[in-house]
Amino acid sequence: MRILSGIQPSGKLHIGNYFGMMKPMISNMDRGELYAFIVNLHAMTSVHDKEALARETLEAAADFLALGLEPERCVFWVQSDVPEVTELTWILSTLTPMGLLERCHSYKDKVAKGVTASHGLFSYPVLMAADILLYQSELVPVGKDQKQHIEVARDIAIKFNNTFGDTFVLPESEIDTNVATVPGVDGQKMSKSYGNTIGIFLDEKALKKSVMSIVTDSAPVEQSKDPEKCNLYNIFKLFAPEARMKEVHDLYVNGGAAYGYLKLELVDILWEYFREAREKRSQLIQDKGYLKYVLAEGAVKAREKAAGTLDMVRERVGLKY
Ligand code: ADP
Ligand code: TRP
Repeated sequence: MRILSGIQPSGKLHIGNYFGMMKPMISNMDRGELYAFIVNLHAMTSVHDKEALARETLEAAADFLALGLEPERCVFWVQSDVPEVTELTWILSTLTPMGLLERCHSYKDKVAKGVTASHGLFSYPVLMAADILLYQSELVPVGKDQKQHIEVARDIAIKFNNTFGDTFVLPESEIDTNVATVPGVDGQKMSKSYGNTIGIFLDEKALKKSVMSIVTDSAPVEQSKDPEKCNLYNIFKLFAPEARMKEVHDLYVNGGAAYGYLKLELVDILWEYFREAREKRSQLIQDKGYLKYVLAEGAVKAREKAAGTLDMVRERVGLKY
C-alpha cells in the first residue's frame, strides 16, 4: 500500500501537526510504502520571504528526521524538486470544475483570516490533488481539516479516469479520530494562523510561557469540574501516562484540580516527551549538507515514480504527438 502525506514549511511545528500528521505518518513506515514530503510550493500561497521559505524547508526536514522518520525506509523529498507536479497540476486544472474549488472551506477560512485571495490559494487543492495522484497514493493520513481536499483529489481522479481512461488510483484519507483536532491554548483548533500553538521544539522558557497561557475557567480549586470541558485537561491527556491521567481525572471530578500546578507538570511532561527529538534536531540543523543530501536522494526516487505517471498522463491526454 502506498501512503503519502505532506507538510508545509510555513512555521514552527506544533503539537497539532505532531498528532494530526507527523506521528501517524512516521508510524506508517511499517505499514507500507511511505511517501513523505515538504510542500514548499503550497507554502508559497502564504510565504513570500525567500530566506524564510528556504530556511523553513530545511527546518521541516530536520523536524521529520528528528521525530523518527528514517529516510532509508521511505521516500522523503521537497515538493518543488519534482517539477512534474506542476505540469500535472495544469492538466488536472483543465478538468476541475470551478464549483468544486468554490466549495472548499479551507480557502474561505484562509481568506477570512486575512490571507490574500490569490489564484494560487484558490487552486491550492488542485496542486494537492496532483501531489497525491502523481505518486498513485492509496492512503493519505491527515488532520480532519484536510479531509475535503482529499475528496477533491478523488473527484478529480474520477473525472480524469472517466474522460481519458483508467489512469489514477483513487486515494482515501485516514483521520485518527482520537486526536482529530488538537485544541490550542484558547480551546479553538490549534493552528499557526490562530497564534494559539504549543510548539514541539521551543526552548524551556518559551514552552513554559505557552503552557501557562492555556485558558482555564476561574472556578475554585475544590469545585468539581467536568474534565472533558477543560482545555488544559484535553491537552494534558495527549501526553500524560494513563495512570496519572486517571488521578487527574479524579481530581477534576472530586475537586482539587489546581490549574497552576497541572500546567507546571505539563511543562515537565512535554519537555521530557520531546527531549530525544529535540536533541537530535539540534544536531541535524547544524548539518545542512546532510539534510540536503537526504532530500536530494529522496527527490531522485520520487521523480522516478512521478515521471512514470506523467508519461502515461501525457500520452492519455494527447500531449504526445
Ligand atoms: P496549521 O493549521 O497550523 O497551519 P497546517 O495547515 O500546516 O497547520 O497542517 C499540517 C498538518 O497538521 C495537516 O495534516 C493538518 O491536518 C494537521 N493539523 C494541523 N493542526 C492540527 C490540529 N490542531 N489537530 C490535528 N491536526 C492538525
Ligand atoms: N494541504 C496540506 C496541509 O496544509 C499539505 C499537503 C499538500 C498535503 N499536499 C499534500 C497533505 C498531499 C497530504 C497530501 O496540511
